[in-house]
Amino acid sequence: MDASVSSAHLTGMLASSRARTLELIVDLGPEELLGPQLDIVNPLLWEIGHIGWFHEHFILRRLDGRDPIRADADALYDSMRVPHWTRWDLPLPSLEETLDYLRRVHDALVARLQERMPTAEESFLYQLTTYHEDMHAEAFTYTRQTLGRREPSFAAASCLPQPTGALPGDVEVPGGSFRLGSSPGAPFVFDNRSGRIRSPHRPRPGHLRHENRRSRSPWSPTRSARSGLLRETKYASIG
Ligand SMILES: [Fe+2]
Repeated sequence: MDASVSSAHLTGMLASSRARTLELIVDLGPEELLGPQLDIVNPLLWEIGHIGWFHEHFILRRLDGRDPIRADADALYDSMRVPHWTRWDLPLPSLEETLDYLRRVHDALVARLQERMPTAEESFLYQLTTYHEDMHAEAFTYTRQTLGRREPSFAAASCLPQPTGALPGDVEVPGGSFRLGSSPGAPFVFDNRSGRIRSPHRPRPGHLRHENRRSRSPWSPTRSARSGLLRETKYASIG
């Protein structure tokens, strides 16, 4: 937490993250925003409000000591206090009201950036809460897929070449080493990604499988890095 980041950069991060969030939710109807109760996903309507709460909680309330924008925000969206299985039964505001909450939090975050250069602590917290929103964008994506919703459309995708069909055969991955973890002096890093590890990779034929389990790589990361890596979702080659 020792580097300040410019207000312009943080404002751009907020805008970019929010644009992706909106792209992932705006085409969904009220039923689709709740969906069936499952252990592996959240109700999307709850999750949208939760990302606004997270920004507000860490910056506007804990840092600035402001009153909550919504009196019911903690009771609805505090993920440490609201058990997962209860989130479908909460008196959640409509999507319009939820997006209004997000807008009000966003406007307050941007307004305080315009007043002065953010401190290192503020820079850290803005990045923390924005990357948190990005992580929920990943969750919105896999939730849509899990529930069989249609594929989301992204503005940036319109610039890409049109798909031409499935790729044939396996993917060849060259051998070598890659860096895992952050570079020294990075302006922001999650604690489970701190440190810098060189990981050897031996090429083996086979597909790439997306998995989320204990790493079997032959390197020996530090204890803190290892505990973080166990929570990481990563790609590994299988035979
Ligand atoms: Fe979260």
